[in-house]
Amino acid sequence: MAINKQIHLVSRPQGEPGTDNFKLVEAELPALRDGQVLVRHHFLSLDPYMRGRMNDAKSYAAPQPLNEVMIGGTVGEVVESRNPGFQAGDKVVGMGGWQQFAVVDANQPGLLRKVDTTHIPASAYLGAVGMPGVTGWYGLTKICEPRAGETVVVSAASGAVGGVVGQLAKARGCRAVGIAGGPDKCRYVVEELGFDACLDYKLHKDTKSLATALKDACPNGIDGYFENVGGMILDAVMLRMNAFGRMAFCGMISGYNGEPIPMQYPQLILQSRLKLQGFIVSEHMNVWPEALKELGTMVATGKLKYRETVAHGIESAPEAFLGLLKGRNFGKQLVKLI
Ligand SMILES: NC(=O)c1ccc[n+]([C@@H]2O[C@H](COP(=O)([O-])OP(=O)(O)OC[C@H]3O[C@@H](n4cnc5c(N)ncnc54)[C@H](OP(=O)(O)O)[C@@H]3O)[C@@H](O)[C@H]2O)c1
Repeated sequence: MAINKQIHLVSRPQGEPGTDNFKLVEAELPALRDGQVLVRHHFLSLDPYMRGRMNDAKSYAAPQPLNEVMIGGTVGEVVESRNPGFQAGDKVVGMGGWQQFAVVDANQPGLLRKVDTTHIPASAYLGAVGMPGVTGWYGLTKICEPRAGETVVVSAASGAVGGVVGQLAKARGCRAVGIAGGPDKCRYVVEELGFDACLDYKLHKDTKSLATALKDACPNGIDGYFENVGGMILDAVMLRMNAFGRMAFCGMISGYNGEPIPMQYPQLILQSRLKLQGFIVSEHMNVWPEALKELGTMVATGKLKYRETVAHGIESAPEAFLGLLKGRNFGKQLVKLI
């Protein structure tokens, strides 16, 4: 019987997680029942939301159960099928989790989606043409509602979501300004992704300093802000928001380990008549087809660029995930499993 290597969550972190919160488990693959397919995963996606699932706390989603396979998006290939809708060789995207193989009840709607890898690489379905891409598309188009000539700022700009936001804003005729950690990421955001400017927040020790740099990078102020980080970056951006600006609250990664991230200037929401809206991309499945169509076309035609950081082997997933929470990834963090 074939062995399936998996990573389980075995304890909940207090503050920063460690590799000891995870355990490598070797499980036997069961025989397929009617309706099921066996998927061999080629790539596993590592995403910041997984940190939230490790907590046993009130949130928009249930906690990851202990001693079970960690949740995660996957792309792979059907290797065996007892479902008439799928055959061996089909490339599929699903939520297969941190493991080499998954047995999927393919009759359940939405669990497994066939994808075409002729013009789009399989891994992109976990990034620019997948959940992170749709996240960027939704927050930008539905909440920031950018108009040509306006200025859009995005934090974690070199990442899977942030990179998409700036490029879509440019395609809509906006000035796109990124905020990212370190000179290499900032250079990439401008030179490769085509943003107009990118600020290295690590060069600024306080809100005032970052807000001054933003004033130079955004001479007409900020109309749309796509928030991925929180804390000092959010405060600095708020000081530069134009009246009636729109702020999409997508993520607040600087507080994911429980760090307090108070907002320094809430009065600006009133004074600048700002719109702030949080969103969870999986609650907007109705826009996914429209978003994926635009993102897929842009990737296939080379108009939407992205970068990947790839760890190798399921054993490397915990370490790679911890790196993602510290900004050691450069672009979409993946684990290659074949
Ligand atoms: N609302 C939704 O439905 C939804 C869906 C997907 C993702 N998200 C959120 O979107 C954000 C980006 O996700 P992603 O998948 O594209 O990840 P990512 O940007 O590819 O990777 C995370 C990046 O966050 C930055 N970071 C980490 N810790 C930080 C800190 N303490 N302060 C400042 N920056 C920090 C790092 O970049 P630097 O080196 O530049 O600091 C790191 O590379 C996350 O907040 C995530 O939770 C939300």
